[in-house]
Parts: sequence; C-alpha cells; structure tokens
Amino acid sequence: MRHLISPLDLTTDELKNLLQLAQEIERNPDKFKHACDGKTLATLFYEPSTRTRLSHEAAMLNLGGNIMGFSSADSSSAAKGESVSDTIQTIACYADIAAMRHPKEGSSYVASRKSPIPIINAGDGGHQHPTQTLTDLLTILNLKGRLDNMTIGVCGDLKFGRTVHSLINAMVRYTGIKFVLISPEELRIPSYVREDVLDKNNTPYEEVVRLEDALPKLDILYMTRVQKERFFNEEEYLRMKDFYVLNKEKMKLAKDDMYVLHPLPRVNEISVEVDEDPRAAYFRQVQYGVYVRMALILTLLDIHVD
Ligand code: CP
Repeated sequence: MRHLISPLDLTTDELKNLLQLAQEIERNPDKFKHACDGKTLATLFYEPSTRTRLSHEAAMLNLGGNIMGFSSADSSSAAKGESVSDTIQTIACYADIAAMRHPKEGSSYVASRKSPIPIINAGDGGHQHPTQTLTDLLTILNLKGRLDNMTIGVCGDLKFGRTVHSLINAMVRYTGIKFVLISPEELRIPSYVREDVLDKNNTPYEEVVRLEDALPKLDILYMTRVQKERFFNEEEYLRMKDFYVLNKEKMKLAKDDMYVLHPLPRVNEISVEVDEDPRAAYFRQVQYGVYVRMALILTLLDIHVD
C-alpha cells in the first residue's frame, strides 16, 4: 500500500519516473483516458480549496474514473465528532483512493495508518503539500529542462507556507540547488526546515528581507500568499499581508529566463500586470498540476498503460 504524505515518500528515481509519466500524459492524453475505468477517487476536504480538490477530480475523470467526496468539514460527519481514522475506514468501502486536506498537521498520516486504500495528502495545516510540490517540480522541469543547478527564491509566508516546506524538502535532494529565503522577520522559515532539512543536507541558503535584493540572482521565484487563516491575530495579518508585491517594475530586476511560480490563490502579492509577462508561469503551473496528479493516481494504484 503506497500513500503520499510527504514528498520524501517518493525516491528521486520514483519521482523521475512519475514526472516522465506526467510528460507522456501531457503529450498523449488519449492513451490514458480509460486507464482508471471502474476506479473511484474520494476527495475529503476539511479545508477550502479550488485547485487541489478540482485538479484531483479532473485527473481521475481524465483517466476514465469516478469521483465522490465532500468539500468542507461541516458537510461531513466530522461536524458530529468523527475521527479521520473512522472516516477513512468508511470511505475505503466506497472508493479506491482518497485525497485528503485537513487543517491539522499530521492528519493525513494518521488517516493513512488505518487506511486500506492509498491516501494522498492534499495539505495538512502548515506542514506539507506534496502534490503541490509534484506540480512545482513538473513546472520547473518543463520550463528549465532540469531540476538541478539553480537558485530558487521563495518569498512571503515561509513560516506557515506548507507549499514552501514541501518544495524545500524535495529540492534539497538535487545537486547545485541554492535557496534565497525572502520573508519578513515574523514569517521566517521554521527551524525544523532550516536546521533539519537545509543544514542537514548542506544546501546553501541565505535569508533576506528585501525582494529587490534577491531578484537579480534567481532562476525561479516562488511567490506565496500571506495566509490569513493561519494567523491568530488579525492585526498581525493586516500588518504583514502586503509586505511583498511583485510588479512590472520589480520584474525588470530579474533575469530574462527567471520564471515566477505561485501555488495560488494569490491575493495582492503578484500584481495582475505581471500576468502578461512571459516569465509569469503560475497558470501554466495549474495545468501541469492535472497531468502530475493523473500520473500520481496511476502510480499509487499501480496501473500501467502500455
Ligand atoms: N495551491 C493550492 O493548494 O490551491 P487551493 O488551496 O485552491 O487548493
């Protein structure tokens, strides 16, 4: 039984195969349109989502499978106090694979321990978001032609940003990767990422506050939103929310082949005028998220298409 709880659940070889499969799906989607005939994906979303839930559902539908699920805790028996362990043992009677998003860190892991079907962690609190990382890696690979030897700037809410934590976990395994961590003091990367991941893997990084100082040296800029839902204090959120705004003027400081990624949703951190810039890759990233989730579903269900 395979689950995807952390990006590290896949070895670099498995990741390479999965990304190659996603590229093959992009080139030849018709070949895969009956690969999951008779299979069902359940989406168990205890937290809001647009892309992650719908891209998993699109992925299963594109593979010929079926979908079911709930999109808020209130519309499930979680509202009556049911545990994720009991829920997943129930869902396994209806579905072959499940994608789960939950506000509490570790929830997908807890569910996976009792689950007779593969669990995909679709985001657990401020901890990890591995399918976003698969999306990010496919985007970087398609745009740059490689996953090694580059400088990646991650900007915004590095404290609570699960997409950033997962991306760093995945990228430290490639050679020649440097990180520039761009955040206000209050939203610095947590020590469990700085020390246990970056330092432990001898990955070079610097921490800066000003985006303008970092931009000229980056090959990838990964922008993130300051997440209102993770703040306990509204005043603190209001003080932080517009700390970074990437606009046309700042893009002039970047290399011609520096791509801008963002897991989305965006609020104000990328001005809409940047969307016209050919280096703005965040909507292409959304499309790649469907191909890579198709590849993930096939991999976890151990389905091979000749
Ligand atoms: N990137 C991402 O997780 O988006 P959603 O919150 O819309 O799923």
